[in-house]
Amino acid sequence: MRIHVITGASEGIGAELARQLAREGRAGCALVLAARNADKLADVAAQCDALGAAALPVPTDVSREADCRALIDRAVSQFGGIDVLVNNAGISAHARFDEVAAEDLRWYQDLMTVNLWGSLWCTHAALPHLKASRGRLVAVSSLAGLVGVPGRTAYSATKFAMTGFFEALRTELMESGVSVTIAYPGVVATEIRRHGWNARGRAAGKSGLDEANAMSVEECARLIREGMDDRAREVVMTARGKLGRYLKLLAPGVVDRMAVAALAKDTK
Ligand SMILES: NC(=O)c1ccc[n+]([C@@H]2O[C@H](COP(=O)([O-])OP(=O)(O)OC[C@H]3O[C@@H](n4cnc5c(N)ncnc54)[C@H](OP(=O)(O)O)[C@@H]3O)[C@@H](O)[C@H]2O)c1
Repeated sequence: MRIHVITGASEGIGAELARQLAREGRAGCALVLAARNADKLADVAAQCDALGAAALPVPTDVSREADCRALIDRAVSQFGGIDVLVNNAGISAHARFDEVAAEDLRWYQDLMTVNLWGSLWCTHAALPHLKASRGRLVAVSSLAGLVGVPGRTAYSATKFAMTGFFEALRTELMESGVSVTIAYPGVVATEIRRHGWNARGRAAGKSGLDEANAMSVEECARLIREGMDDRAREVVMTARGKLGRYLKLLAPGVVDRMAVAALAKDTK
């Protein structure tokens, strides 16, 4: 049985990834599902159970180290090990830096705690078990973790930090048999922008983006699943993301203008 731990599994990409893994693995698939919303988590676990997998919902706030360690302990005590850890829990934020008041800047640290430290704590606790299984680590970053994007100084900082952390860790794990796959989604059709924080650090309640061409959550989860299975170094989603990646080496100013144009419909 392959044992997966997925953070941010109560909705969006994490929930869809869990359902796809359950559908694919059925009785051979164990899923330990983590997020804060216990009711939504239980619903996703029930859907995965109905598809034949063994799903265990573990209410978890990844901004608390003790929760992250308890999550991994629970996975190991229930299933006897861990084969895959998907660090997917994340929060978006949207504000220009010069619009954030000094007394509100603290939420930049809070965002870093969820997006970077949540991944780091879960990974630290899971690492001995992943080494034992020669398993797989997955980090869900963002194209905003490869290219700076206007209105995303906080979010880009957290996702660049994730990229740096997991790239460095990959080099340390080279001889261990543990693979590190970093996924870079573009705009995916989930509620992330409505949940994401505004200049005051509160849920925006709306998306400031034109989402007409957003990737479906099913497609995004499928690409992550395939990258994970292949032990790919990275999964860069969207043609524009791939182009931007290489263009940044040759003509970084062009990439800056592409980023501004891509977010031009942003309502701020
Ligand atoms: N959608 C996109 O366009 C997009 C693009 C690039 C990258 N990404 C990345 O993909 C990942 C998933 O995003 P999504 O689009 O699926 O977002 P989403 O629909 O808003 O789901 C986010 C998930 O993270 C969980 N979460 C948030 N804060 C948490 C915390 N403190 N502790 C535990 N779980 C927490 C949420 O559950 P609870 O609220 O129940 O805790 C939820 O399950 C994120 O890392 C995001 O940055 C998304």
